[in-house]
Amino acid sequence: MKTIHDIDISGKRVLVRVDFNVPLVNGKVSDETRIKQALPTIEYLLKNKAKVVLLSHLGRPKGQAVEGLKLDPIAVRLSELLKKKVAKADDCVGDSAKKIIKNLKEGEVVLLENTRFYSEEKENNLEFAKKLANFGDVFVQEAFGAIHRAHASTVGIAKFLPTVAGLLVEKEVMELEKVFQNPSKPLVFIVGGAKIDTKLGILKKFSEIADTILVGGGLANTFLAAEGYSIGESLYEEDKLELAQDILMTASAAGCKFVLPNDVICADAEVELSEKTPVLDLRADAVPFNLKILDIGKRTQRQYAEIIKKAGTVIWNGPLGLFEMTPFSSGTKAVANACAENSATTILGGGDTLEALKRFQISPEKFTHISTGGGAMLEFLEGKKLPGLEAIK
Ligand code: 3PG
Repeated sequence: MKTIHDIDISGKRVLVRVDFNVPLVNGKVSDETRIKQALPTIEYLLKNKAKVVLLSHLGRPKGQAVEGLKLDPIAVRLSELLKKKVAKADDCVGDSAKKIIKNLKEGEVVLLENTRFYSEEKENNLEFAKKLANFGDVFVQEAFGAIHRAHASTVGIAKFLPTVAGLLVEKEVMELEKVFQNPSKPLVFIVGGAKIDTKLGILKKFSEIADTILVGGGLANTFLAAEGYSIGESLYEEDKLELAQDILMTASAAGCKFVLPNDVICADAEVELSEKTPVLDLRADAVPFNLKILDIGKRTQRQYAEIIKKAGTVIWNGPLGLFEMTPFSSGTKAVANACAENSATTILGGGDTLEALKRFQISPEKFTHISTGGGAMLEFLEGKKLPGLEAIK
């Protein structure tokens, strides 16, 4: 894969698609992981006298300008991190953006406005992509988090400009590819979160290649129900029971240990959940009709931690319980700590998983690789062709 190291960028307008789709709280960036991860590329380009033009989406504004989804707070934070002025355009196409880019000097950077303020972005409209492409001499694909989207700014532009990967995309691909190239065994996949739907592909794939799959979150409830357990009032996907059974069968045929929680933290289904909600730790096959499952139980936490301790490679996506509230956070915390203490290769991804690390104050440094992709990481590991990567090739 060609990267920014393989091309001459001096004096050129370098159009960089980043994924600055970061959470904002009260108009300020509350998690800057994605911005920080793009810094090596931006700094390299600036140092090598490029004129850097950054493009990103933020949120899902449905093709209209939305005040709360403007990129101004991101330009402010980027400027602080780069210790350099970052110009901000009020549009991503049109005369105002054109003027700023025309006046841009070598070693200067501008952030254009949210590309999703135009419906043409998601439609991968080529006219729109061409307008964006006109602002650069070279295109750099650096938006790993959005690399599974075939949009004008992730794919369309590449039709009009020489295209290379940024350093973050290169790193993500290298780290995630290692999972398939002779991973240290045993390979353990930990999966949580609410729904099977988004994890279906990867569950199937890892049922075939992982030694063990550890399941938690709302997802586990559907598997418990598929096994015929009574799960009380717990949230589960009634229409996915057959799929869940299929996955269990694939895993069993492939010799993969598919581990479901054997005890669970439950609360009264009628009460409003709070920091003070009383909980019960019960056997997973004995949840009364008036309770709901909100986390994996203590015995399961110890069991999962033991398995993680002996793993050669761990891949983790999705929280194991409702970690945002203390009474239901111990499962996710136990797994996070076990991964952090493991000397094996540990790869994490997904917005909620990263949010959980922050809540438990576990340093990202403790893991081999923290992916900036949620859906993108899952699709990559599933072996799908990712449009934004194909565009580089
Ligand atoms: C993400 O946060 O997963 C990426 O930025 C992609 O965003 P999207 O799911 O709105 O396309």
